[in-house]
Amino acid sequence: MKRFAERLSRIQPSATVAISTKARQLAAEGKDILSFSMGEPDFDTPEHIKKGAAQAIVDGATRYTAATGTPELKKAICDAAERRRGVKWTPAECAVSVGAKHVLFNLALCLFEKGDEVVIPAPYWVSYPEQVSLAGAEPVIVETTEESGFKVLPEQLKAALTPATKAVVLCSPSNPTGSAYTEAELRALADVLAEHECWIIVDEIYGELVYEGFDQKSLATVAPELRDRLLVVDGVSKTYAMTGWRIGWLLAPAEVIAACNKLQGQSTTNPTAVAQEAARYAVAETQDCVAEMRGAFEKRRDRIVEGLNAIEGVSCRKPEGAFYAFANVQGLLGKADGDRTITTDLDLCDYLLDTVGVALVPGSAFGAPGYVRISYAASTEQIDEGLRRLGQAAAKLA
Ligand SMILES: Cc1ncc(COP(=O)(O)O)c(C=O)c1O
Repeated sequence: MKRFAERLSRIQPSATVAISTKARQLAAEGKDILSFSMGEPDFDTPEHIKKGAAQAIVDGATRYTAATGTPELKKAICDAAERRRGVKWTPAECAVSVGAKHVLFNLALCLFEKGDEVVIPAPYWVSYPEQVSLAGAEPVIVETTEESGFKVLPEQLKAALTPATKAVVLCSPSNPTGSAYTEAELRALADVLAEHECWIIVDEIYGELVYEGFDQKSLATVAPELRDRLLVVDGVSKTYAMTGWRIGWLLAPAEVIAACNKLQGQSTTNPTAVAQEAARYAVAETQDCVAEMRGAFEKRRDRIVEGLNAIEGVSCRKPEGAFYAFANVQGLLGKADGDRTITTDLDLCDYLLDTVGVALVPGSAFGAPGYVRISYAASTEQIDEGLRRLGQAAAKLA
């Protein structure tokens, strides 16, 4: 008997989860580990959201809902999306799923099949290519450079598009680099996409987390002419420190929503009823909690970027958003501590975890060898201690 389906062999386990698990294991064994590997805010879900959810349980939010979300939540999401992006969507153009990852998974299964190509700029979020592969399609990775701010250039995008291109995936601000496209950059990409009939998936899950007044724009706002092919992915995980609630959504043409509804109706059915109620409190008009978290993230970003650039062999571009620093560690590669030679970013991450108890994610996991991702969703004390340890490890490598 063939015990497992062939499709399982097409995907890799999540590298970010793997390193976090190793870090947790070492910590459980009593080692002093500082983990900068997780992609989640260290804040707790704001109090008013938790209280609203607790009341919702009392009030009976305990049953199945419509497969892709309650009408009340969909309306609240559309209202919030209009306030943020100045674009109107109707509840028929909104589907709520079990996190943005599930939204993307639904899209992969509904849209992609064998023979399709999906263009993904690197560095990319780990799940994009895996989900495309699982659906039987081909991820086409377009490498960007640090010089372009890890952003795909219009001419690169144009060169990657073929008659087989079924979709392009853009993420801004980006996980893992924190880079965000300016309005002009989005406009230039939109001009290329206007010439090629394919779906455009824009992952805007970090859209609210931009700093120093960066003018974050949605492709939906910048290029309304692409609307009938534009699939906007968003959710509560990052903006509201709600990773465990598992609510994400898609804003897209009604035919795509109907397809996701069909698939979700035969898989998870609805996202948890009480989590949907919590999300309704999150996206409501008052957004003070987001401003507070944004302020804290900005200070940490500045601290970590400055600290990283002070370490010999390490350099780091100042990211516009999200909560990741993506540091160039090529200056440390090829060096050694005794008989332990550090050849790749993977070696370096292993070495840092073993010797100074610092968990980072190797850039190779995101299609960018020679870099490491450092999540600064950590306290300033942890950041300072982490930087101290990194400096110590870097100094030991000769
Ligand atoms: C770029 C990006 N998209 C989507 C997700 C998925 O978020 P969730 O499933 O928690 O809503 C993440 C989470 O790490 C992410 O970084």
